[in-house]
Amino acid sequence: MINLQDIRYVRLGTRDLEGAIEFATKVIGLQLVAREGKSVYFRSDKVAVRGDTRDHTLVYFEGDPTDHTIGFDLKDHRDFDAVGAALDNGGYRTRLAGRDECDQRRAKGVIQSQDPTGNKIEIVARPYHTGVRTFPSRDAGITHFSHIGLNSSDPVRDEKFWTQLCSARVSDWLGDAPLLRIGTAHHSIAIFPYPQPGVQHINHQVEDVDDLMKSYYFLKERGVKIAWGPGRHPLSTAVMLYFYGPDRMVYEYSCGVKHIMPEDEATYRPRQFAPELTSFCMWGAVPDFPSMQAAISASKPALKAV
Ligand SMILES: [Fe+2]
Repeated sequence: MINLQDIRYVRLGTRDLEGAIEFATKVIGLQLVAREGKSVYFRSDKVAVRGDTRDHTLVYFEGDPTDHTIGFDLKDHRDFDAVGAALDNGGYRTRLAGRDECDQRRAKGVIQSQDPTGNKIEIVARPYHTGVRTFPSRDAGITHFSHIGLNSSDPVRDEKFWTQLCSARVSDWLGDAPLLRIGTAHHSIAIFPYPQPGVQHINHQVEDVDDLMKSYYFLKERGVKIAWGPGRHPLSTAVMLYFYGPDRMVYEYSCGVKHIMPEDEATYRPRQFAPELTSFCMWGAVPDFPSMQAAISASKPALKAV
């Protein structure tokens, strides 16, 4: 069992690094913290909310826009050597990153592998934190990078990878799709059925619903395409807003996500939600992005409402 502590970062390729910087800072509201060669690093964590500040939570690098990687760190860094063996024994190819690549990830050690769908993952040991507070580039109210939506060619199979080989736990199911927690937040990974691997959306939490609605009007005024919402996810109880970023990556702001605290772990039971639109958004907002539409249409029709 690979005991994960948290999701750490997403790394995305882009052909337009300058455009990605512009969008990440001026629209999403992240802090540009470093530029090294053909990579740029962004920070998002507010120490008062998370209790710490990850060195960075998003990287754009010059490359293929379909090249997505998700980084996770370990509960105990001493497990690092066992991670490779656990993945190897499970039949997954692994690669120990060299010193330069570790430096680029700002971690002492990195093991690279893939989930069964082919999503690129990195398990990092002793990733860097920073003592300097986040200074966001616009007042979007972001408190931290919180979760990703992840494409899966077989959600039932991938649930086993994340919960049996890794330590993620199912918080709820939406049809066959599991929403998986690693820490206390309802989900750090939301698995959605889609034929190609890739990050489906990237979530940042904001302080409150005022931030979310202010951003809704901010985005509309600037012509940023809204992908979904405003709405509310009934599973996590979060109020949400999704919008398109560079290379058609979908970003999400949300607030009010449910937490499952350590004292509730023993008694918490994941719930099965009906495969219907109101399980995706209780207000009835319809997503305007293909992978989420695919997830909804993969759901079987529910009983006809009377
Ligand atoms: Fe989300």
